[in-house]
Amino acid sequence: MIGSINGFSKLNKEEKINWIAKTYLNNQEAVVDLIKQYWNSDEELQKLHDEFIENTITNFYLPLGIAPNFLINDTWYTIPMVIEESSVVAAASKAAKFWADRGGFKASILNTEKIGQVHFIYKGEKQKLEQFIQSIQGVFLTDTFSITQNMQKRGGGILSVTLRDKTDAIPNYYQLHVTFETKDSMGANFINSCLEQMATTLKREALQYAAFTEDEKAIDVVMSILSNYVPNCVVRAEVSCPVEELKSSEIQDPVLFAEKFVQAVRIAEIEPFRAVTHNKGVMNGVDAVVLATGNDFRAIEAGVHAYASRNGQYSSLSHASIEAGIFRFWIDLPLAVGTVGGLTSLHPMVKIALQMLQKPSATQLMQIIAVAGLAQNFAAVKSLTTTGIQQGHMKMHLMNILNQFKATDEERVKVVTHFEKNVVSHSAVVELLETLRK
Ligand code: HMG
Repeated sequence: MIGSINGFSKLNKEEKINWIAKTYLNNQEAVVDLIKQYWNSDEELQKLHDEFIENTITNFYLPLGIAPNFLINDTWYTIPMVIEESSVVAAASKAAKFWADRGGFKASILNTEKIGQVHFIYKGEKQKLEQFIQSIQGVFLTDTFSITQNMQKRGGGILSVTLRDKTDAIPNYYQLHVTFETKDSMGANFINSCLEQMATTLKREALQYAAFTEDEKAIDVVMSILSNYVPNCVVRAEVSCPVEELKSSEIQDPVLFAEKFVQAVRIAEIEPFRAVTHNKGVMNGVDAVVLATGNDFRAIEAGVHAYASRNGQYSSLSHASIEAGIFRFWIDLPLAVGTVGGLTSLHPMVKIALQMLQKPSATQLMQIIAVAGLAQNFAAVKSLTTTGIQQGHMKMHLMNILNQFKATDEERVKVVTHFEKNVVSHSAVVELLETLRK
């Protein structure tokens, strides 16, 4: 069958590319050459990237940009951002400068607890199960000691093991709900290893528990896995200043600006259609730093959006207020990130990004990421409630349009000069290019 193949994983890289070229790309040599052009000439570096994932055929570049001038808890940071979308880095940088002149960002850790669960089926008396779980608390800890001993030396480990009854939703379904402290690691492997050992312990001890009937002894573990929902691993970032200090070359009427800004955030708090886009603006900043520092953006995304829905309706992640003449804008974000393990010591650009951030601990990185999200959100909502988003966004997007139309250096200079005084739109750029090319 065309398009299906057995043993693809066993082919070498050249063979994989050849199969793709033959099957999907009409054997076009130019396309194959382009795929190979993205290989790194340093073979060792290329091998490192090849082995990050499976069936690698080439690299897929994203730009690494820099947002300077972030004053966070009185320390200056230059934030690395990996993102494909124009105007995000500029917006973050602009918001950083704006708030640096007004005392900077304040960030604090609210808590750092991670969660994992063993999901299991138990057919029997609930009270007996409760007593059983209570009786083997110590065994869970001794059985996992070989996994947790190093983490314990660093001040982390298993914090609690509780039984959760979910039989209302699914017959006979219970959970071991386990909480962890994983210090500077994101902790996924650590947590999953602990949970799998705990599942083994659970089944083994149940078979030996004298009070159980034969049915009760036959605990069936469905799965053991960490949760990417971390509502107790939360960082707060905020900015504040007297309303009149919001005045700038762009904000002539700070009272009006502050009121409209708070109104826009309020709309995102109560209206899910707006909240999703509002939070997308937050994640522009968050994901870019998460990626640059080698963390798992899918885990962060999933957890953050679950958190945004925690009260039963999807809502804004950020909040704003004016109280006693003080404008305040803040965000609480659940962020399970690491500065050791995973890609952090493998990807050369991640190592540089972490160095640039002054080798942060996981909690410092949580604060930096939350600030990047808040800054991004501030820039977007400021634009939305003043000039509109398109003016700044399209100004930054201009280069992409020029690249799309393969503009020459001479054309670029002319187009950029023209749009210094005119609003950029796709059609206006195309029109101007056509005029220049006549
Ligand atoms: P501007 O006022 O035209 O910029 O803003 P400027 O040329 O006057 O420069 C001021 C500062 O902005 C610079 O200071 C930089 O910090 C930064 P300087 O470096 O000169 O000391 N800046 C730049 N940094 C790097 N490269 C550049 C650059 N240009 C300015 N080329 C800007 C232009 C785009 C910053 C502004 O209009 C803005 O913040 N817009 C918001 C853009 C935004 O939010 N983009 C995200 C994509 S849209 C989206 O996905 C989310 C959204 O839907 C979310 C939501 O709905 O809430 C909007």
